[in-house]
Amino acid sequence: MRVAFRTMADHEFIFERRTEDLDLALTVEGTLPASLAGTFYAMAPTGCRVGSTPLHVFDAHGRVIAVRIADGQASLRARMVQSPLWEAERDAPAIVKRRLFVNKPSRWSNLFDVDLANPVSHNVVPWGKDLVAANDPGFFRLDPVTLETRGPTTFNPTTKGATLGPMPRVDPATGHHVVFEHRPGRRDTLIVREVDDAFATVVERTYKLDRGGASFHDVAITEHYYLVMQFGTVSLPTLLWGGKPVIDALRFDPVATPRLYLLPRAGGAPIAVPLPGGRLHFHFWNAYEADGKVVADAIGYAGRVDFASLVPPSVRDPRKALATPASSSWRYTIDLATRTAQATALTDVATETPEIRADRRGRAYQFGWAPVPGVAGDEPDRGNAAWYHALARHDFAARTVQTWDAGPRAYVSPAAFVPRPGSTVEDDGHVLALVQDVGTRTATLGVFDARDVAAGPVARLTGAGLLGAINHVAFAIGHGARS
Ligand SMILES: [Fe+2]
Repeated sequence: MRVAFRTMADHEFIFERRTEDLDLALTVEGTLPASLAGTFYAMAPTGCRVGSTPLHVFDAHGRVIAVRIADGQASLRARMVQSPLWEAERDAPAIVKRRLFVNKPSRWSNLFDVDLANPVSHNVVPWGKDLVAANDPGFFRLDPVTLETRGPTTFNPTTKGATLGPMPRVDPATGHHVVFEHRPGRRDTLIVREVDDAFATVVERTYKLDRGGASFHDVAITEHYYLVMQFGTVSLPTLLWGGKPVIDALRFDPVATPRLYLLPRAGGAPIAVPLPGGRLHFHFWNAYEADGKVVADAIGYAGRVDFASLVPPSVRDPRKALATPASSSWRYTIDLATRTAQATALTDVATETPEIRADRRGRAYQFGWAPVPGVAGDEPDRGNAAWYHALARHDFAARTVQTWDAGPRAYVSPAAFVPRPGSTVEDDGHVLALVQDVGTRTATLGVFDARDVAAGPVARLTGAGLLGAINHVAFAIGHGARS
C-alpha cells in the first residue's frame, strides 16, 4: 500500500504546535557587543489547534521566548503563558471561549457573548524589573528570568466588553507606561492610565469619544496628547448575534473609519481628526509636536486587512482574499485649528511592527527598524509580516530603506533597538531580530549594527529548532541577571 504525504510548505512552520518548555544554550558566532548584557524577549503565539479545532495565529496561545545574553554567552528559554485559558483548553482539550477568528463550537453559546478569550499572545513588554505579556482582554505579569506567570495586572478591565490597548508605550519624559482601556458604547469611552514600573497608576484620564463601536490598537505619546487611531468599526448586531466570528463584525470604510484621536494629557475633550487616503492603521512609528502642529507617523494599509492567510491551509476561507493589501509608511501633520491632517509618504516599502530608539518616542526622530517582505518564499501572502524575509533600516529624512535579506526559506521577526551605552546619537547601537531558517531548522538571534543593517549580523546566536510565529519583541538591558 502506498501512503501519500503532503509535503509541508516552508511557510507552514508558523502553524506547528510548540508548547513545550525550552532551555537551550546557543552557539555564538561573531562578536557580541558588550552593550548587549540583557534579555531579548519575543511573543510567539503557538498551539494553532485546540482539540480538533485549528486556530488562527492571533488566537493561538502565547508563548514567551527569552534570549539571555551575559558574559559573551547566550541561552534561550521558552515558556507558555500560564493563563487560565491556556490551562483550561489544554486540559479540556476544546475551545472554551469565543475568539476573534473562531466561535465556540456550540452555535447558540456565542449569542450575546462578548466575554472573549484572552490567549495572551500579542506582545511582551519589559516593565521595570518585571515582564508583561499583553493582549486586548488583559495583561499578565511574568517573572523575567523563569518566565513563570505571576498573574493578571491590577489594571485589567473589569467592565463587560472592555479591552486594553495591547501596545503599552513608555513615555521617556516620565518613564511611565501609557496604557488605554476602551469601553465600547453608543459613544466609546477611553481611559488612559500612566502606570509606573511598580504597577501603580500615577495618572488617569477619561475621555468620551464622539462615536461608538470603534476599534483601536496602538497608542502614541506627545508632550500634550495621547494619540490613538481607529482601524475599524464593530457591527454590534453581527457581534451579538454570534453567527460569525468577531472579525466578521468588523467594518472598514475608507472614508469614515480612518481617524486619529488626540486626547489632551491635561484632560478635556478628544480632538477627532479624519485621516485622508483611505488607509487602515494598526501601529504608529512615532508622534511628536513641532511648530504648533502634531505629527503622527504610522504604517498604513491600502484597504481592509483580515489576516485570512494566518490559519492552516486546510481551514482557509475560500471566500476571503489571502493577500494582505500593500502597506507603506505615512506622516500625518495635524493642524489643530482646522482639525485636519495632511498626509505625506515616508517610505513606500511594505513593513510592520515598527521599532524606534526608545528615548525618541514623542520627539522628532529620523530612523526606524522593522522587517520588510524581501525575497519571495512559498508563502501565500507576501504582505503579511509573519512571512517577511528581510530586516530594514528606514531613514525618514532621506526617505530610503536599507535592507538585509535572509533568503527565501528564512523568516525575520520584528526588531529591537539597543542603544550603545553613553551615546545619544540616534542610530548608534544594535538591532536584534530572530531569523528562523526552515531549510536548516534553526533559529538565530541576529545582532546587527543599527547603522549598517545591509552588512548582515555582526553576531549570530543560534539554536536548533524553530520557534514559530513571532508577534512583538523587546530588549531589556540588565534583565536576566539571575539564572
Ligand atoms: Fe501590535
